[in-house]
This record gives sequence, C-alpha cells and structure tokens, in this order.
Amino acid sequence: MRFWVWKIIKWFLFKLNAESAHQLSVAFIRIGILMKGVPLRLISGASQIREEERSQVFGISFATRIGLAAGFDKNCEILEGLPALGFGFAEIGTVTPRPQSGNNRPRLFRDPDKELLFNRMGFNNLGASLISERLYSAKKKLPEYFRVGVNLGKNRDTQLENASRDYIKAAQPFEGLADYLVINVSSPNTPGLRSLQTVEALKPIVSGVVDLISGWRKPPPLLLKLAPEVAGEELSLLIQSLEPCGVEGWVLTNTLSGTFNFASESISGGWSGKLLSDLARQRLIEARRVSQKSIISVGGIFSCEEACARISAGADLLQFYTSWIYRGPGFPVDLAASIQNRKSKVCQ
Ligand SMILES: Cc1cc2nc3c(=O)[nH]c(=O)nc-3n(C[C@H](O)[C@H](O)[C@H](O)COP(=O)(O)O)c2cc1C
Repeated sequence: MRFWVWKIIKWFLFKLNAESAHQLSVAFIRIGILMKGVPLRLISGASQIREEERSQVFGISFATRIGLAAGFDKNCEILEGLPALGFGFAEIGTVTPRPQSGNNRPRLFRDPDKELLFNRMGFNNLGASLISERLYSAKKKLPEYFRVGVNLGKNRDTQLENASRDYIKAAQPFEGLADYLVINVSSPNTPGLRSLQTVEALKPIVSGVVDLISGWRKPPPLLLKLAPEVAGEELSLLIQSLEPCGVEGWVLTNTLSGTFNFASESISGGWSGKLLSDLARQRLIEARRVSQKSIISVGGIFSCEEACARISAGADLLQFYTSWIYRGPGFPVDLAASIQNRKSKVCQ
C-alpha cells in the first residue's frame, strides 16, 4: 500500500521541475506536521521501528544512525516532521550570517536514469538569526532523542580572507540550540569556497569557531564537511592537522563538482546520488585509517547493503539526501531497520 502511494506521488512530483517538486514536498510535510505527524508516520512506516540501541557519537547519544543531510531543510521548515519520517537526526542549513537568495533558477536538476541530482543552489537561506529563531521553536516540539546539527557557511560576497568571521557569525545565534556544528567549506556553488580546504585556510576558521563555542555553557562538537575530491595525502594531512585544533568529527562527503548541460548551456555545480557511492565510501575508508574522531558518511547511500558497508567501514552515523528523493519516504525506516537487524551479522 505504502509503495503504491509513493509511486503515485513520485510520478506526480517528477512531472514538476525539481525545485518546485521540492517546495511542494516541503508543503506536504508541513501539512503532515499540522496533522500531528499522522500522515507522515503512515507513509514512512516510522511507527513500525523500535529505537535502535542508542549510540554515543562525539559525546552525544543518537537513537538511530540515520540522518537527513544538509541542504534539504536549509531554513528549518520541516524539522518537526522528520522524526515521524524515520530520521534520528538532521543537519539544517547551510546557514550563512546574512540571508541570501542563492543562484538564479533553474538550479536543481534530476537525472532519473542514473538516480542523480545536480545542483547549483548557492547557499540560498534566510540567514542565521531567523533560522536560529525557527530552531528554537522547533526544538520545543521535537522528541528528546532527536538531534539537530547546524551546517555553517559564508556569504557569497564575503572575501575568502574574511571567511572565519562569517563562520563565527553564522554560529553565534545557535548557542544552546545546535547539538553539533559543521563547518562547510566544500560546496562547489560558492566561488572559491573549496579553496579553503587547506590546513592554512582552515586553522583560523576552526580556531575562531572553537574560541566562540568554548565560551558557551555547553559547547557542541565541531565537525568539518569536505568534498569527495579531497583524497589521499591531502585528506590525511587535514585530519592530522585539524583534529588537534578541536575538530571532533568529519562529514564525508559533499557533492562532486561537475557540469550539466541545460538549454545548450554548460552549468557548473555539484552532483549527488549514485555516482558518489564509491567515492564517498572510499573517502570514509581513507579517513578512518587516520582519524581518531567520529565520521558521518554521506553520498550515494541507496541500499541497506551500502548503509551496512559504510558502518562496517567505520562510519558512526549516516546521512542521505538524493536517495530519499528517488527511494521515497519509506527509505529511512527501511535503512534503520536493516541496520538494526543485520548489525550483528553484516555490520558486526
Ligand atoms: C539540492 C541540494 C542542496 C544541497 N545543499 C547543501 C548545503 O547547503 N550544504 C551542504 O553541506 N551540503 C549540501 N548538499 C549536499 C548534501 O548534504 C550531501 O552531502 C550530498 O548530496 C551527497 O549525499 P547524497 O548523495 O545522499 O545526496 C546539497 C545537496 C543537494 C542535492
């Protein structure tokens, strides 16, 4: 029954352009929230799963390892609906200090045959202050077990050399609200951002945010999100140099930089979905060899086997975005259940 409902919804949503479909899905979820989550639980099957044994990751407890990746709920609009959709945590944002509208539309595309998305959103968001107010209200209605990460970015018009100020400003309003923070220097859609993925550029950013949060009553763990192109020695060097500076974990990976042909134009942006599967798994394996800290694995997780493989390879938590679009609302619950059932056999 759930399967057929999703088939019909998917057929309809895929007739729309990708961003309109996204907005309509957000509207549906908001209606579901107003109805106390009942339709969301029905379509996701979330009521059927038991809470996994809680895992401690970067010092906080997670009821399930399944989370929604950054970029879907940039403005904290649907957080209250996510537990009923089977998620144990979510990363909101990317949040920049000031609101910005992002790149012009169209800026989100699908490749359904290959189960990919391509985006050049450009950190469209309502800004840290308003988003923190929304998070404050949402948190009152979220179940105790649900965790919220806040993904931080810089405004497009901020010079790269002043980037650390932006990350500090973006983090500031989230004191007491964020369960964890993520410094995102890996979006391909903010010019020059990825050039910050060096030890020299990241040290002042990390130490700026660490200084800020060390003054908070309860400092949240600070994570870094990297691009799939950061590999081998480059990745090891970042891990070995930045963990001693206060980085408590890694989010691997963001989208793969590339181009997409639209209306006889070649557009630059980032690919997500199936083609990231091998890359993101490989980055996880490389990082696990050198990292002493926790790792959130994200990118191309489309099956229970892949989810288990990531956990076997050392991932502490999993996130996805694109597979939710293609596999539908039952996917988070299926994944959580299969991790739980197969943990002893496949995932050890
Ligand atoms: C439309 C779209 C917007 C995204 N926006 C963000 C963002 O604002 N910040 C971020 O860190 N990652 C963003 N991402 C990347 C995802 O969080 C994730 O790292 C990536 O899509 C790989 O996972 P997936 O293959 O499961 O989609 C975005 C991805 C998509 C598809």
